[in-house]
Amino acid sequence: MYICICNALRDRELAAASGGARSVADVFRRCGRRPQCGKCLPDVAQIIETSRTSDTGAQKIAAE
Ligand code: FES
Repeated sequence: MYICICNALRDRELAAASGGARSVADVFRRCGRRPQCGKCLPDVAQIIETSRTSDTGAQKIAAE
């Protein structure tokens, strides 16, 4: 599923980039993109949080 429409980033790409990320900017940087409209930022932050709270959280999202 696309999370960031502006950059055509899917949940699994963002989850894969979120492991150990300290911020939303980190995740975008790892994907080689920059936030544009900002609508997806809460969702990206949630993906990072899921990754932090569960060792396999990002992997679960990536596998979906
Ligand atoms: S939807 Fe991600 S920056 Fe616009």
